[in-house]
Amino acid sequence: MMQPWFPDAKLGIFIHWGIYAVEGTAESWAIFSKERTYDSYMNQRHGFTAANYDPRAWADLFKRAGARYAVLTSKHHDGMALWDTQASDLSVVKQTPAGRDLIAPYAEALHEAGLKVGLYFSHLDWSHPDYAPLPPAERTKDHFPMPLTDHSNDPYHRYWSELGPKTPAWQRFLAFHEAQLRELCTNYGQIDILWFDGEWTPDDDDYWQMPALSDKLLAWQPNVILNSRLRGLGDFKTPEQGIPIERPEGVWEFNTTINDSWGYKPNDHNYKSVPQLVRMFAECIGMGGNMLLDVGPMADGTIPPEQVERLEGLGAWINRHAEAVYETQAGLPHAYHYGASTLSKDQQTLYLICFDRPNGQVAVKGIRNEIKSISIQGEPLTFRKLGGAPWINLPGVLWIDVPESALDPIATVIKIELAGPLDLFTGKAHV
Ligand code: GLC
Repeated sequence: MMQPWFPDAKLGIFIHWGIYAVEGTAESWAIFSKERTYDSYMNQRHGFTAANYDPRAWADLFKRAGARYAVLTSKHHDGMALWDTQASDLSVVKQTPAGRDLIAPYAEALHEAGLKVGLYFSHLDWSHPDYAPLPPAERTKDHFPMPLTDHSNDPYHRYWSELGPKTPAWQRFLAFHEAQLRELCTNYGQIDILWFDGEWTPDDDDYWQMPALSDKLLAWQPNVILNSRLRGLGDFKTPEQGIPIERPEGVWEFNTTINDSWGYKPNDHNYKSVPQLVRMFAECIGMGGNMLLDVGPMADGTIPPEQVERLEGLGAWINRHAEAVYETQAGLPHAYHYGASTLSKDQQTLYLICFDRPNGQVAVKGIRNEIKSISIQGEPLTFRKLGGAPWINLPGVLWIDVPESALDPIATVIKIELAGPLDLFTGKAHV
């Protein structure tokens, strides 16, 4: 069930951590795309030490980044559980030199730090004997993107349509799936978000029985928030890697990599800069969404320095402008102002987030309210409304003088205090 803390929180940190960090291969997908054989991929487990895993330091970093929650991959599509699951032998506890449950200290550190605890869990499991044989050996990278396109002629898809949801194999898989989720929901105290993935194969509701699963999850964790990857159920949408152009309906969270990879890939230097991340974040919150920014820790648990630096840079900006970020709602629709904006909950304070240098003035259209004051970081600004037609309630353009000295080095926030809740001109002018 959606909880009020979530839309107020704005920033979360996604953590893709698993054996794929050992050699910097693509998380799980390297097996599916046949970039690696299953065995060579799984052999990475021998190097997964978690030797420098310090979830308190992670929590501290996430707080410096301005995040209020995190979501850790408890199990990705490769099936390797990061906790001491009793439902199978495939866990970092039994299979890797890490040799211990990594979810318990994570949940504990986040609880202690006052951060909300999220767990990612892949419904599909490419290692489980009752799931499906691995995709055909002849599959190559050229077959991408497979799961989300029409795959009715694909042999892998045919496997599912021939298996059937009532077969003992699939029933065993569902029992295993439920057993693992029960462990995650009952052994680590409060879990605030269950962030599912991998619901697309088999692409059939009769297999997954999500309504029954969702009831169980809520019985185990009554306050948990579920993402939408539950075949039509769930509390928030999860646009991935591309910020929506138009504001999505309902509660949503944009999840994104910080370079081009979810997991640790030392050769991927295609990092977004701090100003780019600030802009992405501002665009999300300006449309009422959250951002879930991913990090990929190394096999020893260290978060790479390039990622730490970006989290801290984003956090420094958020910290300067916290009032315009947390506990706000979506701001102006497009075209009223060329940038993002947020609105206080009482709708009487508007925060314009300016990405570009204003060259003297910022213009805002459509505000009917009387303006009480406009400021940047407490410094009052001068402004004038020009034009408009009061006899048809058409407001003029609000011109705000913005001195160079008031500009933020990354994105300037202009605070507009309105007399009464925001009253926007939405119609067309007299034609
Ligand atoms: C995609 C990828 C997966 C990643 C997820 C995060 O579904 O397949 O590897 O974990 O995005 O949203």
